[in-house]
Amino acid sequence: MVARKINKAAVIGMGMMGSQLAEALAVAKIEVAAVDATEGLLQNGLKAIGERLGRFLVSKGKMTQEEKAAAMERIRGFTSIEQAVKGVDFAIEAVPEKMSLKKEVFEKMDRHAPPDAVLASNTSFQNISEIASATKKPDRVVGMHFFNPINRMRLVEVVRGARTSQDTIDTACALVRELGKEPVVCKDTSYGFLANRAYTPMIMEAAQMVWERVAPPEEIDKALKLGYNLPMGPLEMVDFVGGWPIFVSSEQDAIRELGPEKGRLNPLVRAMSRAGYTKIYDYWRDVLSKG
Ligand SMILES: NC(=O)c1ccc[n+]([C@@H]2O[C@H](COP(=O)([O-])OP(=O)(O)OC[C@H]3O[C@@H](n4cnc5c(N)ncnc54)[C@H](O)[C@@H]3O)[C@@H](O)[C@H]2O)c1
Repeated sequence: MVARKINKAAVIGMGMMGSQLAEALAVAKIEVAAVDATEGLLQNGLKAIGERLGRFLVSKGKMTQEEKAAAMERIRGFTSIEQAVKGVDFAIEAVPEKMSLKKEVFEKMDRHAPPDAVLASNTSFQNISEIASATKKPDRVVGMHFFNPINRMRLVEVVRGARTSQDTIDTACALVRELGKEPVVCKDTSYGFLANRAYTPMIMEAAQMVWERVAPPEEIDKALKLGYNLPMGPLEMVDFVGGWPIFVSSEQDAIRELGPEKGRLNPLVRAMSRAGYTKIYDYWRDVLSKG
């Protein structure tokens, strides 16, 4: 099997994950076409990349100002997927976790990218075979689930859909290694793939204990950190990566995939989302600890 070298990439969605993906690719000396829906959103993403490179690499002496400028120059901004994917070897989608939106994006990537380009999704939970059904070439569609923050987390789950070719898997794994990370290959038949499937029940139990006011979030995180030698408690981890909205938006999918008992959202996550909170620590401080 032949793993192809990626020289030119497109990243669709310049939010939390997409801007970090564009950054990682540009630092690895790959040309990047960065896309978001509007010029303003695109500029926010590009600004975040510049700030992170300054804070984590330049100020720590790991990158010079010239290298930073060269990395930024490798990223070109677009507000059209059609334009951005022209001539790329690889395109990765990082738009919000909604199947209909992902299919729309893949249909466009498939129509306008060169026929041999690999098309990847950074989805945390969605089924790769279903995403690939929006394309005419499902053999080139693959999941590449990066973990947040990308500059610190070494794992990338490379997710095989029903029709994903071995060449596509090999090319994805080679790219993951080129970015200095470790690939783990799995099938898309597991909702949450490997890591999230195993870790989500712990997150939800921890949130349930906050909801029952068994102990404050700090104490629950402390118990899990010290009891299981975790570098970070599950509640502070999801607060830190901004992951609660993904659980909220995926609830219907989770119920469909796992059944109502396992799939239904924890009541705390629903209550804090309705109140406009995205961090359990803030919601505990302002609301739960007082009631
Ligand atoms: N946040 C995390 O910790 C995390 C970790 C791993 C994987 N993921 C996955 O990565 C994906 C993106 O998550 P995120 O947290 O970066 O979301 P986000 O909401 O921060 O960013 C999504 C971006 O996509 C843009 N977008 C929406 N529609 C678009 C379109 N049609 N064309 C171009 N851009 C469009 C939005 O404007 C936004 O900037 C999701 O599938 C999520 O499950 C997230």
